Amino acid sequence: MNPMHLLPSAFLWLVLTALSAVGQTRLELPLNAVSQFSGGTGPFAIPPAPQIAISVASCSQNSALRFMLSLSASAGIDFSTVEIPLVDGQGAMVGDFPEGGTVTVEGTGTYEIALSTSQQPFHEILPNLPLFGDSTSNQAILFSPPFFQPSQQQPTYPNYTMNPVDVPQPDRPTTTPNYTLALIATTQNPYPRTGCFLARESQLQSSNINVNASLWLKDEQGWRSQFLVGGLTPSTNYTAYLLQDNTKVFGPIYFGTKSPAFPCPLVSNVAFCPGVAYAMPLDPPPNNAEIYTGDTLPTTLTDPLKSYMTNFTVTLNSFACGRDMYSPLMTCADCQREYRKWLCAVSLPRCSEPSLSNPDGFTRFPPAPTATGLSAMKNEQQQVMSALLPVQSQTPSRNAFLPPFQDPYQVLLPCIETCNAMDRACPAFLGIKCPTAQFNGAASYGIGYIDGKDGDQGEGLTGTAHDRYGNVWCHLG
Ligand SMILES: *[C@@H]1O[C@H](CO)[C@@H](O)[C@H](O)[C@H]1NC(C)=O
Ligand SMILES: *[C@@H]1O[C@H](CO)[C@@H](O)[C@H](O)[C@H]1NC(C)=O
Ligand SMILES: *[C@@H]1O[C@H](CO)[C@@H](O)[C@H](O)[C@H]1NC(C)=O
Ligand SMILES: *[C@@H]1O[C@H](CO)[C@@H](O)[C@H](O)[C@H]1NC(C)=O
Ligand SMILES: *[C@@H]1O[C@H](CO)[C@@H](O)[C@H](O)[C@H]1NC(C)=O
Repeated sequence: MNPMHLLPSAFLWLVLTALSAVGQTRLELPLNAVSQFSGGTGPFAIPPAPQIAISVASCSQNSALRFMLSLSASAGIDFSTVEIPLVDGQGAMVGDFPEGGTVTVEGTGTYEIALSTSQQPFHEILPNLPLFGDSTSNQAILFSPPFFQPSQQQPTYPNYTMNPVDVPQPDRPTTTPNYTLALIATTQNPYPRTGCFLARESQLQSSNINVNASLWLKDEQGWRSQFLVGGLTPSTNYTAYLLQDNTKVFGPIYFGTKSPAFPCPLVSNVAFCPGVAYAMPLDPPPNNAEIYTGDTLPTTLTDPLKSYMTNFTVTLNSFACGRDMYSPLMTCADCQREYRKWLCAVSLPRCSEPSLSNPDGFTRFPPAPTATGLSAMKNEQQQVMSALLPVQSQTPSRNAFLPPFQDPYQVLLPCIETCNAMDRACPAFLGIKCPTAQFNGAASYGIGYIDGKDGDQGEGLTGTAHDRYGNVWCHLG
């Protein structure tokens, strides 16, 4: 063998060794996948592709991780290194990678890197919020934001078909976003708002808390996932997030559980009042059930309600719905929907407690029986008091069909806006007047919370019936 050849071939071998060593550390990130790493700094190779949405997420608290992104040029030199800006522990950038690129990581801790060839990064904080229904001392009902709206067909004259008493739940979505609920103790300490961190820290992973998820068409906004949570601790602040595929984050919202003595059970999944997801002054549900549903509510309570609904629809149909217009915006279907919300809110009373952040936020002395409602007011701490009234067991109920209830409780009055929305949506011949004595004479409202006391829209003390911090001021229905 010619000794002259030794040198180049040895050189070649060395280069190959060096290349394969590089090949081992330079892990190639898969496209359209989330990769999780429990440490290490990379570099991680991005395969060449047009338009990659690269997203990163820190999965550890206080990790001070930084992610540097470089584009590879054809010369093989890395240039234009930029740091991916992180907000609440996650960040995303979209760009063209004709020759690929690399990600290097500074700091320690667990993290995720994801490459997506759709325009949508895997890691995102989404603007919609989960919805808090209500809680008891150890349970809560929460909803995802609406994710699927059934196609709505406006009924037409002469065959103007309105919803029956039980609102059908049509067009059930065939695919549901992969949502998981994450509950964590409410603390002041900052932590990354990332799916991987929240999923690991969630109390649902480790404790006695259990969650039952189902689908429910709560209102016209569309289908939501409903989460019934059990095994919570009384009088406790919880922070709730919703995770989609463990990478997209909705929230946080905050809610408190009620005190240990809170007497009222939860009610939800009521076909004739689909918006109901709150506590009511009723004895414990039959058959050791966790909550009441439309099927287990006492018929002495629900039969009159259904009868009102039927009779109202018959009366409404005496109008030439779909042929004659009583409003450029509203139809008989809108009227029926708003009547239903109002009827449910006034006939299925909501039992509540002041929120944990505002323990003085209720009215100690009921207003005179002739008063049409409770005006929004502030307490000495300048906090707005909820439309909460104490009810003693001997107090005659506002709804005569409500079975007697032994424990004292506080009732959260319906927001006057629930009545006004019905008034606006319905034809004048129905003679709707708010406040009104149509249902059992003494229905009373929370007034001045959402709209001003004189009806100026959004000019009320809170501008809303409830907020993301667990305050509930009046019962929107
Ligand atoms: C009226 O509409 C309903 C539902 O769309 C349909 O089932 C029914 O057959 C129609 N009746 C007439 C008389 O067209
Ligand atoms: C969830 O469902 C399981 C099984 O059906 C049941 O044992 C549990 O009590 C339910 N939890 C709640 C909060 O309803
Ligand atoms: C939903 O997401 C979780 C967490 O990412 C995962 O474990 C589970 O397999 C997913 N379920 C489906 C049906 O994709
Ligand atoms: C509904 O109408 C029927 C028939 O007119 C009547 O018997 C019933 O009492 C009405 N229901 C209510 C709740 O007023
Ligand atoms: C719950 O949070 C509120 C407001 O953030 C606070 O005022 C209250 O003390 C907390 N209550 C408990 C029991 O931690």
